[in-house]
Amino acid sequence: MILCDKGLFTLHTKNTTYQMKANEYGVLLHTYYGPRISSGDLSYRIQYTDRSFAPNPEEAGENRLFSLDVMPQEYSTCGMGDYRLPSLELELPNGSRSADLRYKSFRLEDGKYALEGLPAFRGPEGETLVVVLEDAAAQVDVELYYGVLEDYDIITRAVKVLNRGGGTVRLRQAASLCLDFQRGDLDLVTFDGKHVLERRPNRAPLIPGVRSVGSVRGTSSHQHNPFVLLCDHDAGEDHGLCYGAMLLYSGNFEAAVERAQFDDVRLVLGIHPHHFCWPLEPGESFTAPEAALCCSKQGFAVLSHRLHRAIRERLIQNPWKGLPQRVLINNWEATEFTFDAERLMQIAKSAAPMGIGLFVMDDGWFGARDTDAAGLGDWTVNRDKLPGGLEDLVPRIKALGMDFGIWIEPEMVNEDSKLYRAHPDWAFQIPGRTKVRGRQQLVLDFSRREVRDAVYGALKAMLSSADISYVKWDMNRSLATVWSAGLPPQRQGEVFHRYVLGVYDMLARMRRDFPGVLIEGCSGGGGRFDAGMLYYTPQIWCSDNTDAIDRLRIQYGTSFCYPVGTMGAHVSAVPNAQTGRSVPIETRGVVAMSGTFGYEMDLGQTTGEEREIIRRQTAFFKEHSRLIQEGDYYRLTDPFQNGPYTAWEQVSPDRREALVSVVFGTAHGAPPFSTLCLKGLDPALRYRVNGGEPYPGDVLMEAGWPLPMPWDDYQSLQFYLAAV
Ligand code: GLA
Repeated sequence: MILCDKGLFTLHTKNTTYQMKANEYGVLLHTYYGPRISSGDLSYRIQYTDRSFAPNPEEAGENRLFSLDVMPQEYSTCGMGDYRLPSLELELPNGSRSADLRYKSFRLEDGKYALEGLPAFRGPEGETLVVVLEDAAAQVDVELYYGVLEDYDIITRAVKVLNRGGGTVRLRQAASLCLDFQRGDLDLVTFDGKHVLERRPNRAPLIPGVRSVGSVRGTSSHQHNPFVLLCDHDAGEDHGLCYGAMLLYSGNFEAAVERAQFDDVRLVLGIHPHHFCWPLEPGESFTAPEAALCCSKQGFAVLSHRLHRAIRERLIQNPWKGLPQRVLINNWEATEFTFDAERLMQIAKSAAPMGIGLFVMDDGWFGARDTDAAGLGDWTVNRDKLPGGLEDLVPRIKALGMDFGIWIEPEMVNEDSKLYRAHPDWAFQIPGRTKVRGRQQLVLDFSRREVRDAVYGALKAMLSSADISYVKWDMNRSLATVWSAGLPPQRQGEVFHRYVLGVYDMLARMRRDFPGVLIEGCSGGGGRFDAGMLYYTPQIWCSDNTDAIDRLRIQYGTSFCYPVGTMGAHVSAVPNAQTGRSVPIETRGVVAMSGTFGYEMDLGQTTGEEREIIRRQTAFFKEHSRLIQEGDYYRLTDPFQNGPYTAWEQVSPDRREALVSVVFGTAHGAPPFSTLCLKGLDPALRYRVNGGEPYPGDVLMEAGWPLPMPWDDYQSLQFYLAAV
């Protein structure tokens, strides 16, 4: 998988090849990433030409053909003649800001590396290549880590910067990934949005200059996602070369892509340099979070399948894997803060007979939490609402045959709380400046160990007090006034990153102490939906928008990188709280089922007919949950095209089963004929569609299946295919 030959490093996965080479001056050049090819030195593709205004490093002597500015770099530097996007910027004790790297050595390690305190794809299979570069003047080493997940077609990367000198080096930027292309005719796809409309794919050809997306909110954000695609102009679901790059990180990030002067392209992905400055004392090192790359020459569907499989099998750790699927009921949209134990029992009792196996008590159960202005920070039961506490409520829920889950928001504090009154300095605030509240709450300084210990202690006591199977870990504002009382002035540039490390530390502790508890991530819905969180929380509430029609778009965009089984999705009451739209219960079920599946409404208020439908939905989901969550996912239409319907399909790995879901838009008179061509089937197998006559796979894929004409708005259907 990893070949090393005199400064030439070739990494092979099953279907892709990645290569870099140290040239005669020791500069590590990126020579190739793409579909798998036989080994060989691909540096012949790099042309050394004399370009105006392209400076020449001293060691080149008279050789004007050698310039960092025109060559594809493996890890780009700055201040030394490469004017494109930097990956590394060092501030030396003399105040200079630059970086200059030359090849020093390499080593191979068995298995895939892990990163202490940071999320990373797991081995045990795989191999690690570490290429060590050196900035001799700065006395800094940069170790580039490459993990090869051969079967998954994933190359992971991480970077460790070590100060080997005697003075303090301040890291101003340390990206996780730099990827240079010797071509400019690429499209960039980013996944952008806002609260309640997250991860809309935006695709545009690169034009000269830089396009950058990212977050400086302290979380990966609703606005942009730390996953981007680069692809051929004509790449689509089923054809074309495409590259996916994700960052396994949940804080400030930047994904910047530059199309430079000679139609070369550079992608740099990593922690956002804004507000980042990490002093390295002599002997200290800094590890940048992991990034992962994937490539497909057969378009987006195959790329997504590869990413999904790697995330499912090598990133997330779902303690419930292999256990019977539990459909969830959550009380939030039904009650918000206004409930007591009896009201919760009512909701649970109406859900239990419908095949629902997990009751989740959302926000409002603790402290003085009657509105969002109070209580955060006080993780003890509100006895006015739950007089018998968890020790009374949980057994009552369990007696209904349901497991119990609970909502928490550990990173936050309301000023109206015991915690804040005792420790006002534990919240981020800049001395002398006024406060900045978000949802009337402040953010706790999780960069400080004592703050984490205190909050974790309270959570641990709470979680130990009853039989709790699930935790919804929420985070409902962006960071502001970020300053830590725990660090001196010259180290304030560490705080954003230390905050993220603090969150990971808390999550790791919870996983260690409560290994059977499933943690679902959430940040006002999908404000922290990233591969970093998925390492700790195998599912994430996809969006606070539960409107099934909006969800088609949100789940579609999310699916490019993230598997269906990671997307928190619930059926909620209509008219929908975000859109006012009323969508039939069947359709709400079809959409939520391509996710973790649950209900977020008072089922006691449904009609008998609706209850029957819900019973069927939960039974159907449980029967097909493996196919839905682990099947290859095909986006059959793009819901942003406003076509008459949106369709998607899951196909089992052995291609003997498939589930097709179709949701129509608004109804119109004289609707057009629609024939849906399926994907991913075995052309040689014959499939029964919903138990009917068998049809060959090639027929269903090439000639298609006729869709009924919709009658009324937002109708839906599902068909299940089984090979005979
Ligand atoms: C966030 C979550 C919701 C709900 C509320 C509770 O908005 O995304 O699902 O838990 O908080 O306050």
